[in-house]
This record gives sequence, structure tokens and C-alpha cells, in this order.
Amino acid sequence: MFNAILEHGLLLNRAQILDLGCGRGLLESWLRAALLCYENGDWPDGWPPAPRPHRTRGIELMSRDVRRAHAALGSACAISQGDIRNAAYGSADAIVILDVLHYLCAQEQLEVLIRARAALPLRGLLLIRIGDASAGLRFRYSQWVDKLVMLCRGHAPAILHCRSAAQWRALLSACGFEVQATAMSEGTRFANVLLIARAI
Ligand SMILES: C[S@@+](CC[C@H](N)C(=O)[O-])C[C@H]1O[C@@H](n2cnc3c(N)ncnc32)[C@H](O)[C@@H]1O
Repeated sequence: MFNAILEHGLLLNRAQILDLGCGRGLLESWLRAALLCYENGDWPDGWPPAPRPHRTRGIELMSRDVRRAHAALGSACAISQGDIRNAAYGSADAIVILDVLHYLCAQEQLEVLIRARAALPLRGLLLIRIGDASAGLRFRYSQWVDKLVMLCRGHAPAILHCRSAAQWRALLSACGFEVQATAMSEGTRFANVLLIARAI
């Protein structure tokens, strides 16, 4: 997923990035590492340049993950503890929500998407990775792995609120986005899809 974001230049020229449900700050770590590789000439042929955001912010529910992000990324890191259902988003050029929305109920998902749209300018980017509930066994496998990982990370057992990729696209359209979908499960047993949405 992180490779695909770089390979397709999805976050290129996005000065302000907001990562909702950012966990331990993997996206920001990845972006920092990518920029170092790019500047050292250690970069795959044919890929666009590494993104050079002015600021990457993150909001994460679990304090332990926020502490880990700060320990790894240092004092310049703008990851704060909060609940994306009510935390202020401010404004951003790109909002990223990777493997998070299914922890929220349907109404909360809708509210987060409406607030994300309000935080973005016209043509602002929203990247969402979801599990495609219409993908049969691969989807069920993804769900089991997800539940197991979240239990291991200290979350209470959760009911997951999933939709098919088509339903996610319809919801995003209703919230003011135009959407492209890219399968993200190549070579794996998962049913992940990256939705690339632009504010219209
Ligand atoms: C599967 S992890 C993905 C983490 C990160 N997006 C990544 O790709 O590395 C899901 C994350 O969403 C966070 N999360 C779930 N519900 C949240 C909420 N209401 N507000 C903020 N974070 C939330 C969890 O604590 C967890 O860190």
C-alpha cells in the first residue's frame, strides 16, 4: 500500500497531509524514508519523485501508539491522541484513512467523510483503504486477521462495519468526491482496495 502511494505519486505536491487513525505513524515514517532514499539517488526507475510535504499530521485513538510514534519520529512529529469521530481536522491538501473506517458505525463513517470533505479544498485528495465486503472468502480472511491484530494491539473485541467497494464508492460520491479504486491485494489473500477520491 505504501509503495503504491509512492509509485503512483499519489501524495506528490500535497503540502499538508492529515493521517486519520494513523496508528504508530507508519505513513509518516515511510514518507520520511522515501525522501531520504530519493535524495540519496536510491529510488526505483520510472517512479515520480518522493513527496515532500510541509507538514504531516496524524490523529490516533490509542495513546500507546501515539507514544511509539513520538519515540520513533522525534519532537517534530505532529501525531496527537484523539478520536477521529470528534477531533478537529483543520485543513489539509490530502487526507489519508488506511484500514480505519470499518471500526466506526455507518453513521460515524458518513460524518467522518463529510468532515474530511469540508477540510479539503477543491481537488483535494482523500485516500482510503478498505476491505471489499463483496470479495467472499478473501474478505472473511482479511476480517479475521484484522480482528486478531487489533486484539493483540490492546483493543477490545470490535464489531466491524464493512461495505463492498461499490458501496464505499457510492458513499464517497454522495459526500462530494469523485472516486477511482485500485486493488491492493495482489499476491496476498486479502481483499483490500485503495479508494482514490478527489473533492469536487
Ligand atoms: C489497522 S490500524 C491502521 C493504522 C494506520 N492507519 C496504518 O495504516 O498503519 C487502525 C488504527 O485506527 C485507529 N482507530 C480506530 N478507531 C479510531 C478512532 N475513532 N479515532 C482514531 N483512531 C482510531 C486504531 O487505534 C488503529 O491504530
